[in-house]
Amino acid sequence: MSSPIEACGWIVNGDVLVNIPVAAPDLSGNEERYVVEAIRSSWISSTGPFIQRFEREFAELCGAGAAIAVCNGTVALHLALLALDVRPGDEVLVPSLTYIATANAVRYVGAEPVFVDVDPATWCIDPARLEARITRRTKGIIPVDLYGHPADMDAINHIAAVHGLWVVEDAAEAHLARYKGRPTGGLASISTFSFYGNKIFTCGEGGVLTVSNPQLEMRIRTLRGQGMDPQRRYFFPVTGYNFRLTNVACAMLCAQFERRNEIIAKRERIFARYRELLDGIPGIGFQPVAAWAQPAPWLFCITVDERAFGRTRDELMHALAAAGIDTRPFFIPLHSLPPFREESARRGERLPVTDTLSCGGMNLPTYGALTEQDIVRIAEIVRKSRR
Ligand SMILES: Cc1ncc(COP(=O)(O)O)c(C=O)c1O
Repeated sequence: MSSPIEACGWIVNGDVLVNIPVAAPDLSGNEERYVVEAIRSSWISSTGPFIQRFEREFAELCGAGAAIAVCNGTVALHLALLALDVRPGDEVLVPSLTYIATANAVRYVGAEPVFVDVDPATWCIDPARLEARITRRTKGIIPVDLYGHPADMDAINHIAAVHGLWVVEDAAEAHLARYKGRPTGGLASISTFSFYGNKIFTCGEGGVLTVSNPQLEMRIRTLRGQGMDPQRRYFFPVTGYNFRLTNVACAMLCAQFERRNEIIAKRERIFARYRELLDGIPGIGFQPVAAWAQPAPWLFCITVDERAFGRTRDELMHALAAAGIDTRPFFIPLHSLPPFREESARRGERLPVTDTLSCGGMNLPTYGALTEQDIVRIAEIVRKSRR
C-alpha cells in the first residue's frame, strides 16, 4: 500500500519527499485489515458491524447517549437543524470565523445565520456578545470549536437556557477535545463532527452527530434513513434523506480509534515542538489555550503581526511554499463572502476580532508522520523570513 502522504496525492521523488502537505491521514494500524474484512464480509453499504461498533465507541468517548454516523460533517449539521425543526424565517447565531459549512447548513433549512464575533481568548464565538444579537426570531446557537479549541460551553448553554434556545456544537475539528475535563460531544443539545481527510480521525468523507435526548436521537436516525419508521420497514411517516455512512468507512474509523491515544500524543508532541522552536520570534503568535480547555491538536496555528514580523502572512506562506511546504490561511470571515455579505451588512455586523485573526492567521503542517527534521526546517524558514 502507498504511504498516507502518497495517497493524499503529494509529490514523491523516489524515496525523497519533496513536498510537505499541511495534513495527512494516519492509516498505519488495522485500517487496511478492517476495510478488507468489511469487503470480504460483503457488508459494504450502511449496515454492518463496524457501524455499530463505531457508533457505540464514539458515543462512549463523548459521554453522549448516542452517536449517529453520517456521510460528512456538513450533513451532520444539516441533520441537526432538521431534527431541531429549524425553519425559514428563523435566525441562528454562528461565528463568522469558521468553515463555510457551519453557515451553509443554516441556509439549507431556509434560516438565516447571524454572525457573532469571536473571543480573543479562545477564537471561538464570544459568549459576551451573544445576548445583543438575540431577536424574537433566534432559535439557537452553533458554537464552533475552532482549530480544535472548545468553545466556552457553560457560558453559551447558560445564555441559551435563559432565552429558550438550543445549542448545536460544531466540533468538526475538535475530536476528543475536553472542556473543563468533559469531552466535546456531550456538552450541547446535539454535537457534530467531521471525518474529512484532513481531520485527526478520518475515513475520507464522513461525519457523526452525538446526542443524549432519546427523542432527538430517534428523529435524527429516522431523517438519516429516508424517513423510514424504525418499527415498520418501508413505511415513511416523514420526508427524510439518505445521509448514511458506509460500513467500509466505519472500518477505518474503528481502526483509528483503537490507536487514539497514540495518534493524539504524536500530534501533541508536534504542537510542543512548534511552540518551542517558534517561541520568541517577534510578530509570531500562538493560538491561546483557555485554562479550562484541553484542545484537540488538529492543525497548528500561528498568527503573523506584519509590523513586528516585517512581512505579511501571505509573504510567509509564499516563502514556505517555495521550500515545498504547504500551509493554509485562516478561514475568510463568512460575513464577507458573497452568499452572506449583503444580509450581514444589512444587519450592520462588525466583527473586528474575526477580521484581524483571519488576515494574520495560518496553519502549519500537522500530521503524525511529520518528522523532527521537517518541524525544524519549517521553524527555521519562519525564523529566517523575518525582516
Ligand atoms: C468547523 C467545520 N464545520 C463543518 C465542517 C464540514 O465537514 P465536512 O467537510 O466533513 O462536510 C468542517 C470541515 O471540514 C469544519 O471545519
